[in-house]
Amino acid sequence: HVHDHNLVGMQLLLFAALGAVGHAVTNRLIPNIRGYMVRRGVSGKDLGKKGTALEGADVPEALGIVPGTVFLVCLIFCLVGFATSYPKKLLDLNSALLSICLMLFLGFTDDVLEWPWRYKLMMPSVASLPLLCCYEGSKSVVVPIPFRSLLMTDGELTTLGRLLCHLVVVDTNAEGSIVNLGVFYLAYMGLLAVFCTNAINIFAGINGLEVGQSYIIGCSVLLHNLIEIRCRSLSSENHVFSAMIMLPFLGVSLALLRHNWYPAQVFVGDTYCYFAGMTLAVVGISGHFSKTLLLFFIPQLINFVYSMPQLFKLVHCPKHRLPRFNAQTGKMEPSRTKQGTRQFVNMTLINLTLQVCGPMDEERLCTVLLVFQTLCCSFGLYFRYNVAQLFFD
Ligand code: UD1
Ligand code: MG
Repeated sequence: HVHDHNLVGMQLLLFAALGAVGHAVTNRLIPNIRGYMVRRGVSGKDLGKKGTALEGADVPEALGIVPGTVFLVCLIFCLVGFATSYPKKLLDLNSALLSICLMLFLGFTDDVLEWPWRYKLMMPSVASLPLLCCYEGSKSVVVPIPFRSLLMTDGELTTLGRLLCHLVVVDTNAEGSIVNLGVFYLAYMGLLAVFCTNAINIFAGINGLEVGQSYIIGCSVLLHNLIEIRCRSLSSENHVFSAMIMLPFLGVSLALLRHNWYPAQVFVGDTYCYFAGMTLAVVGISGHFSKTLLLFFIPQLINFVYSMPQLFKLVHCPKHRLPRFNAQTGKMEPSRTKQGTRQFVNMTLINLTLQVCGPMDEERLCTVLLVFQTLCCSFGLYFRYNVAQLFFD
């Protein structure tokens, strides 16, 4: 356990410095790598610039490979620091590195080869295997207080409790307050990785949104870690670990955001979405705060649930659902899809925002969505520290 706050503070400062170096390197590298991408045809058209002078230009794609690589190099340097201060965490860090690296690679192949949808779903579950195989932490969850009586009454398992214990390989403690989910906990963590990566990827399509949301979620995770380190030394080793991963992540992401902000010089590609999603999932899993992490993903959850009819092909889902740019007004409008004779607005949170707030220009739309992201993350933190104790003790 980490007790010495001064030592931890020094280490975090060191990692913040590493993040700053990562930021500077990424910032310098992106303009260099851009040219290579366009030359090899790894580029796309900015669909939000139709009818403007920027229409038809090849915007380099998959630039997430730069922050991703710089981030990995930063973490490899961290190994030295971890080996001396946190030898037990070395396995966690190595498996985290392998998972993130695999996801970065798979994301890049997706940008170059454009995998079908079912492949996109499979990739994160495969990439999370290194992390899950090495996972040595607890596989138990604390049952929310209102649900405890469903599992156990007067020290005896209820029918539901017995059913769960026999059919599923779970076991509970005497009060029914803790349930060991065993292999199902691993499945849950695999699904978390699938969710985090894909949810960021489908909440996308306007300049700056993919990196912007990841950056804000990353800041919230870091804030959560710092609060935990400050207030509770008991579980803080996990949070120091998470903060050390987040600092370089935030550094390199901010550099990418500068180049991807409206009007975008580069696209981040699925490379970045997968890399960022996996990094956040990894810290949530090995830091044991996956529920808090999901609170930070509220916009992505809303977008995912709202998208379900299109994702599951109940109604038509075109390749692109991003809002339509109206060159006359210079504003973004909700995009529509035709099914038979009926026309409907694509079911995304971005289009919904435009329906509620009216047409907006791209930069403003991104800002509004990022403000919403910030509000949701603040709510998440508030909920975690003020409301959660009503459900958990
Ligand atoms: C996901 C979304 C899709 C959205 C796309 C945009 C689902 C199921 N899929 O698909 O609706 O249109 O992301 O990222 O919701 N682009 C822009 N401006 C941007 C960012 C991207 O015009 O700011 C365009 C470019 O042409 C770029 C392309 O989107 O080349 C990248 O799309 P890609 O990441 O391949 O789409 P998906 O992730 O499959
Ligand atoms: Mg994408």
